[in-house]
Amino acid sequence: MATRPYVIDQMISAKSIAARIEELAAEIRTRFAGTDKLIVVGLLRGSFVFIADLVRELDLPVEVDFLEASSYGDGMRSSREVRILKDLRGEIAGRDVLVVEDIVDTGFTLHHVLHLLRSRNPARMEVCVLLDKPTRREVDIKATWTGFEIPDEFVVGYGIDFAQRNRNLPFIGKVRFTDTGE
Ligand code: IMP
Ligand code: MG
Repeated sequence: MATRPYVIDQMISAKSIAARIEELAAEIRTRFAGTDKLIVVGLLRGSFVFIADLVRELDLPVEVDFLEASSYGDGMRSSREVRILKDLRGEIAGRDVLVVEDIVDTGFTLHHVLHLLRSRNPARMEVCVLLDKPTRREVDIKATWTGFEIPDEFVVGYGIDFAQRNRNLPFIGKVRFTDTGE
């Protein structure tokens, strides 16, 4: 997809992300200590890098499943209408569930997904998000664990895309347009 010309300015280094994941994993491990029924649910596609690093730090018996919800299309703004594009493969009734998401922005996506998952009666459900843009919130939602709070900037990297690109960057960067518009 053609977009306006832009550059990416690093916001959070790969090293900072790795250090924060160790802290998050330690807290998650404590919270779920002793369970043998934990299932980590990653929201595709943005969380795939985060979830890969997080589960390897968990040191707990875990299953991993994925769900794909869409609210952004190819643009930079939430459509507010959340669709489930790919559902979980497994059942979560009676299970301990850790939902892993890349970013909470308006909150519509997570709100919709958590409502859906809760209706399936998990024993327990906690949420870990890598990034939170609290100033953008429109739906009241709070993750159990948040990696970093960030300002209202459009970010990419570490799994997160702009028009499907830049997911492979090892760091989180913000998109800065270099043309004169806006
Ligand atoms: P929400 O429904 O507005 O909370 O949007 C959350 C979803 O929008 C996340 O799962 C991301 O995939 C996407 N998103 C939000 N902010 C950004 C961003 O800065 N860059 C890329 N994707 C974003
Ligand atoms: Mg997403």
